[in-house]
Amino acid sequence: MKKRLKLKKTVWFIFIIILFLSLGLYAGLHIYQDYKYKQTINYKLLEYGYNPNEVEELLKVFNTKEEQEYLLNIKQNSQIISLIQEKYFIKNNFKDYLTYLEENKNLELKEIIRNVNIHLNHNFYEYDLKTDDSLEELMLVNKYYYLSSEYNPDDLVTVSQKYAWGDVGSKKVRQVAYDAFLNMWNAAYQDGYYLMINSAYRTFAEQESLYENRKKTDGIIIADKMAARSGYSEHQTGLAMDIFSKYNSNQKTFGSTEEANWLKNNAYKYGFILRYPLGLEKITGYEYEPWHYRYVGIKAATYIYENNITFEEYYAYFIENS
Ligand code: DAL
Ligand code: ZN
Repeated sequence: MKKRLKLKKTVWFIFIIILFLSLGLYAGLHIYQDYKYKQTINYKLLEYGYNPNEVEELLKVFNTKEEQEYLLNIKQNSQIISLIQEKYFIKNNFKDYLTYLEENKNLELKEIIRNVNIHLNHNFYEYDLKTDDSLEELMLVNKYYYLSSEYNPDDLVTVSQKYAWGDVGSKKVRQVAYDAFLNMWNAAYQDGYYLMINSAYRTFAEQESLYENRKKTDGIIIADKMAARSGYSEHQTGLAMDIFSKYNSNQKTFGSTEEANWLKNNAYKYGFILRYPLGLEKITGYEYEPWHYRYVGIKAATYIYENNITFEEYYAYFIENS
């Protein structure tokens, strides 16, 4: 009888030990899991005040450990969600957006995004990037992207005197741009307009003398608004043309002609864009040039026309960072 009681006690004792061990283990595991969870980026972001949807959105964009750690060190969290939701947000530019935002608190977020994307956070001609000419009709040449003095397109063709002013054979463009121009010329002609080219391909040396002459007559500030420095002109690509009407080649008045209007609204169908539009002088770096058209291909030209953006913006988002 005594033996049975002792056995019963031992069983109870073991049972209680096991129970305590299990409870201890359960509690330990729970504490450990809680500790682990508090180390996660999700928890930390929630603690920062982001809601679960925002956390999900942030983690979709910032998916490496390094990016997430950077995210946790930023003080400006209130604008981060709005920044990443902007249409032309580019992850590689994230740090630059934040720096530029600090320095330009008066700008809207979409201007922050645009300006940084196209390098406007740097001064013209002080932030030099070599143009990627392998991009052919999508190469960007502007006050940041330059062509070397050796760059010469190898498929230049002569524009017929039917479509160009100047000495016979003096106007050349690349084959692809000429084919597109002829299509556009015919369409304009059908609509009753006669287009004429007065400047097309220019060599590095020709651009140099054009710019230097401008500088001599008008000074550097005006020269830089009207003409590109050598190496920085689209005319060196063989893809740009200055197009006027046969009846008006006056830079001051061409903009208000029907031909200028026709070009502005139809050129994209043939792959051309109005490169230096009115009101966007700060972005392109040039005064409005209703005559300067650049061949970029129909796809890019259509997007640029329909979305009312510059080639700079298109290039940053769809070419350089795609
Ligand atoms: N007029 C344009 C900007 C050029 O010189 O290329
Ligand atoms: Zn031009």
